[in-house]
Amino acid sequence: MSPNMNAVVIDEQGDADVMRYRAIEMPALLPGQVRIAMRACSLNYHDILTRRGMPGVRTPLPMILGCDCAGVVAEMAPDVEGFELGDRVLADPISRFAPREDPEPKMPIKFLGDTRWGGYADYCVVWDRQLVRIPESVPIEVAACLPVAYGSAYRMVMHHGKIKTSDRVLVLGASGGVGNCAVQLAKSVGCFVVGACGSEARCRQLEELFGVDETINTAEEDIVRETRRLTGGSLLQGGGFDVVVNSQGGEFWAKGIRCLKGGGRMVANGALAGFDPPTDIRYIFQGELTIQGSNGWLHEDVENLVELVAAGKLDPHIGARYPLEQGIEAHKALEDRKHFGKIVITGDAPVPPSRSDLA
Ligand SMILES: NC(=O)c1ccc[n+]([C@@H]2O[C@H](COP(=O)([O-])OP(=O)(O)OC[C@H]3O[C@@H](n4cnc5c(N)ncnc54)[C@H](OP(=O)(O)O)[C@@H]3O)[C@@H](O)[C@H]2O)c1
Repeated sequence: MSPNMNAVVIDEQGDADVMRYRAIEMPALLPGQVRIAMRACSLNYHDILTRRGMPGVRTPLPMILGCDCAGVVAEMAPDVEGFELGDRVLADPISRFAPREDPEPKMPIKFLGDTRWGGYADYCVVWDRQLVRIPESVPIEVAACLPVAYGSAYRMVMHHGKIKTSDRVLVLGASGGVGNCAVQLAKSVGCFVVGACGSEARCRQLEELFGVDETINTAEEDIVRETRRLTGGSLLQGGGFDVVVNSQGGEFWAKGIRCLKGGGRMVANGALAGFDPPTDIRYIFQGELTIQGSNGWLHEDVENLVELVAAGKLDPHIGARYPLEQGIEAHKALEDRKHFGKIVITGDAPVPPSRSDLA
């Protein structure tokens, strides 16, 4: 196999023009590692944060972006068992080693496309314990949508949100990856679901694809005023939502709090519109509100999500596909908010024939 592969690489952090599509040396496999020939890598807002750089987070450079990589097994270290060349696999982006068994102790956090080379590439190397098998009924590109956006939405909505059938749920940023999953999960539980996003066309897609009960176009409508209209009053007057799902932060932080009913809870896992917004804390104590943070997912969440898709209970929507060589355009489309649902980069790097093919 060639020692080089093609990838979207950043050699420094900054604006979109720091990305390069170029050849880069393929890393050798360590014991316990598997090389995946990328067939699909879904994009996440996290890719933008890694490219720009985040305060307090050290990204080793050069870095290959892309947290969510799925494909086929192209090479395995000799000690890897239970997989064959050509197997369809999805990588859980987080490597979960207990610190003392960590083979790379200098890198405390291991996250594909962030602290380990990710999936905007022909090949991606992961530990065998990160792998999740993709059933034949699940397209590889759909599996690639699951870990970061759907995994974190699953934890936020089901584990921390504790939603139940009678709940009224407001999902902010409903047009993106996390938001699409949150509205689907809340609808599957039977909640009254309102999706908020930034255009009329995306509001219509939320209704048509996921059957949300109402939408709020945040480009033209104020979420607090619309909440009062849709739920019959402010939080101290019997209106408001039981649960607000908030990945936005920024101006949507204080407003999201004002959309809750008394005793309601806001679950939050992101801050793409700003991480230090002002808050009027009177709403929190007078309304006896709960603000619940949520971070990441468990490995079994990724396995459960694959099963939910295989069972037809969850249907990740792919809004756009780009071949790897147009990965930079795909990334820019995410940043320019041109998408609905997930954007996927596709790849077709060769896989050596397996022993059974040669027999
Ligand atoms: N903590 C965790 O474990 C975790 C895991 C995954 C994601 N996250 C966070 O969750 C958030 C969403 O991630 P994602 O991958 O789903 O992103 P995404 O697909 O880009 O979706 C985000 C949506 O928010 C809206 N948006 C984008 N930029 C915005 C801005 N500056 N201000 C207000 N709205 C904006 C866009 O919708 P409209 O244009 O329609 O408004 C977009 O569709 C991010 O903050 C991400 O960091 C956290």
